[in-house]
Amino acid sequence: MRKETGQAIHLADYRPTPFVLERVDLTFELDPTETKVESRLIFHRREGTDPEAALVLDGDELTLSGLLLDQSELPPERYTVAPDRLEIRGLPAETPFEITVTTFINPSANTQLMGLYRTNGIYCTQCEAEGFRRITYFPDRPDVLAPYTVNIIADKAANPLLLSNGNFLGGAGFGPDKHFAAWFDPHPKPSYLFALVAGDLGVVEDTYTTLSGREVALKIYVEHGKEPRAAYAMDALKRSMQWDEEVFGREYDLDIFMIVAVSDFNMGAMENKGLNVFNDKYVLADPETATDADYANIEAIIAHEYFHNWTGNRITCRDWFQLCLKEGLTVYRDHEFSADQRSRAVKRIAEVRHLKQEQFAEDAGPLAHPVRPTAYREINNFYTATVYEKGSEVTRMIATILGRDGFKKGMDLYFERHDGDAATVEDFVKCFEDANGADLSQFSLWYHQAGTPVVTVAEAYDAPTRTYTLTLDQAIPATPGQPSKKPMHIPLALGLLGASGEELAPASVSGADFADGVLHLKESRQVVTFAGIGERPVLSINRSFSAPVNLSFPQAEADRAHLARHDGDLFSRWQAITDLALKDMLDGVRHLTEGRNAAASPALIEALIATARDGALEPAFRAQALALPSEADIARALGENSDPDANHAARRAVLHAVAEAGRADFEAIHAAMGLHEPYSPDASSAGRRALGNAALSYLALAEGDPARAARAFAEADNMTVQFHALSVLAHHFPDAAETRAALAAFEARFRDNALVMDKWFSVQATIPGEATLGRIEALMEHPLYNARNPNRVRSLIGAFSFQNATGFNRRDGAGYRLLAAQILDHDPRNPQLAARLLTAMRSWRMLEPTRGAEAEKALRSIQSTPALSRDVKDIVDRMLG
Ligand code: ARG
Ligand code: ZN
Repeated sequence: MRKETGQAIHLADYRPTPFVLERVDLTFELDPTETKVESRLIFHRREGTDPEAALVLDGDELTLSGLLLDQSELPPERYTVAPDRLEIRGLPAETPFEITVTTFINPSANTQLMGLYRTNGIYCTQCEAEGFRRITYFPDRPDVLAPYTVNIIADKAANPLLLSNGNFLGGAGFGPDKHFAAWFDPHPKPSYLFALVAGDLGVVEDTYTTLSGREVALKIYVEHGKEPRAAYAMDALKRSMQWDEEVFGREYDLDIFMIVAVSDFNMGAMENKGLNVFNDKYVLADPETATDADYANIEAIIAHEYFHNWTGNRITCRDWFQLCLKEGLTVYRDHEFSADQRSRAVKRIAEVRHLKQEQFAEDAGPLAHPVRPTAYREINNFYTATVYEKGSEVTRMIATILGRDGFKKGMDLYFERHDGDAATVEDFVKCFEDANGADLSQFSLWYHQAGTPVVTVAEAYDAPTRTYTLTLDQAIPATPGQPSKKPMHIPLALGLLGASGEELAPASVSGADFADGVLHLKESRQVVTFAGIGERPVLSINRSFSAPVNLSFPQAEADRAHLARHDGDLFSRWQAITDLALKDMLDGVRHLTEGRNAAASPALIEALIATARDGALEPAFRAQALALPSEADIARALGENSDPDANHAARRAVLHAVAEAGRADFEAIHAAMGLHEPYSPDASSAGRRALGNAALSYLALAEGDPARAARAFAEADNMTVQFHALSVLAHHFPDAAETRAALAAFEARFRDNALVMDKWFSVQATIPGEATLGRIEALMEHPLYNARNPNRVRSLIGAFSFQNATGFNRRDGAGYRLLAAQILDHDPRNPQLAARLLTAMRSWRMLEPTRGAEAEKALRSIQSTPALSRDVKDIVDRMLG
């Protein structure tokens, strides 16, 4: 699996290493610019392999300064070294041997944030996927597992804290100014789970007693003074530990579990064994500075990283093609956790919104790839919505197909059979087959075929024979490298509703397997007959989004309205409202291009306002209904020739009509929804705030006046309400004096809080319209803008490119040129960040021709720039491919 710039790595080339790694012993002498790393590795030759095979270790920008075999100098003819590779020849055929590698690295110069780097005076590491090779020469691949001993030596005053994986062995003084600490991780692990943190941090401590009665020390390390803001993360951690015991029977396995929050981090968080490292955005929260969404994200990500301890760490991936084995499964687990902690239906709606926004968009464009890819050029580009979110959906479908017990049996077998292994997707699926006597071979296509299936639904009711017939067709669009697809096993949860909303039970069903309310579509076309249906039913299909598919079903408006009111599946009620709204918006886009007006249908207005007023429904659900489809949803539904200005205008017209019609209700809701209640982050309080905030958005549209939002901003005593009011001001009244005053007040109050200032940058970056580009340029000159901090860059450049369809997709292409310039600026420092930003253009082929041509020009200008990183090169080539 050798990697050279631009060369693809193929799953089919997988081979185990010729040497087995038995033990790792690392010693770090930390220094800001010259850290010494001594690595002692004990290997033996794998049985049955070529006795002549050389040992090949990976490196990345390394210089070798010492190499010993069994403590003796190696003659130069026995090895070959380059910054990315160390090859050693003539090693013992039978006996174990020890290799000692010494390297010096410069953590301060590490701007990629991969390997060992500095953030705010702290030493920290990020090794997934291939960062360990930036620390020392090593077999840096996930199927090489070993126990690690780590010794850390550092200046004592600057680094009172010396942390690594596993259990603490001991520490002592070391010379006049230094000290050292030793850690031992008994659980064999791959190098990507290695972590080291050193520096001066504050701590929040707690304990957790496991199911079997062992006490585990819990520690969350944050910058001094921020300890109170880690309380919610600690609470979420304890709930996660308990949930994994109760639901999956998984207990924690070390004496200590640590989380460190850092402010410079390329992604969300990292599940290093016993020592998770987090982007501080997903740890720190208090009511004054964090929104309800921030709290929900913290809960989910703390859980996600904790759950990796079993799904990822105890059972890891054989190679990076298997990434979904840990990520898709762990996302599924964190989704289930949040559903149990909060409202299941509301959680599902939020997940599906996110899935469609990110994964469906990816799957419909040039970056589409299977959940389990078979080739990559840069693995960091495969930490995608497809691997994570679609990977989770595939796991969820296994649970739907096998049922709760069957799923549990399969998971239990997986833990039993593969604990300690580096496993594959096939191993995982086989556990479900073996535990249930099931055949999941057709189902497995979900891992291998990219693209979102389209299920076309046609219905017919025959009163005389009391039969209802569904004709279901499935088609999977062509995706890069996969021109044609096979039919998949699509589990569709469905129900038939009678005129008063009751479920109609068929006497029999033929033409498809149908059990427990789930229809199993397996052929490209199936005609399914439901017998004994006494009245024309209203079809509720793909309930709870049982399969991640697009439906093509021009359901009658009256039927959708019926579902919106009566469906027993709350998700489907939301879906019905959303379908009504999307239809109005798509009609609106057409009408606007024909010079006519866009509007909302009476059916939508009635269904939506009835839902908004319905006190029997949870406020959080009502808020989700009021959110309506996004501009990106409209673009995806159009599929081609998308004009973001028209999408925006049509959506706004629909929202405006709803606002006018529901004005009095929205006033009542806004007043009633406890926006002044004492803050608590629990789901039902958050739901009330979400509904109140949604009402405020509609009132701003109906009133056309910033006064109410300005008042809400001024009176708010928590960030959820305050920031929403600021967004309403900025997005609806960008030039009003009230908005300028609110932005200035917010900045003055929070200028020392980086996470809050990220919000301040984002809210301005997402103001619709072409004038925002000028604001972006001005904000890049703001004293608090910092191109070295990934959160800050994402808050401005990321928010603009990903979340501001009209501003970014300016007709003149200036938005694309700005992004291209930013990518080229960031790429030499931080290729991962640059490549991720570039994916904002993943849907460029759906644009109308003028914008499409401008987007292509910007992409070509990136592509033709010399010395691109492998990360950016891979993305831009695929985007234009
Ligand atoms: N495994 C981490 C998670 O919990 C993400 C690591 C992402 N790494 C990367 N190089 N993109 O999802
Ligand atoms: Zn993960």
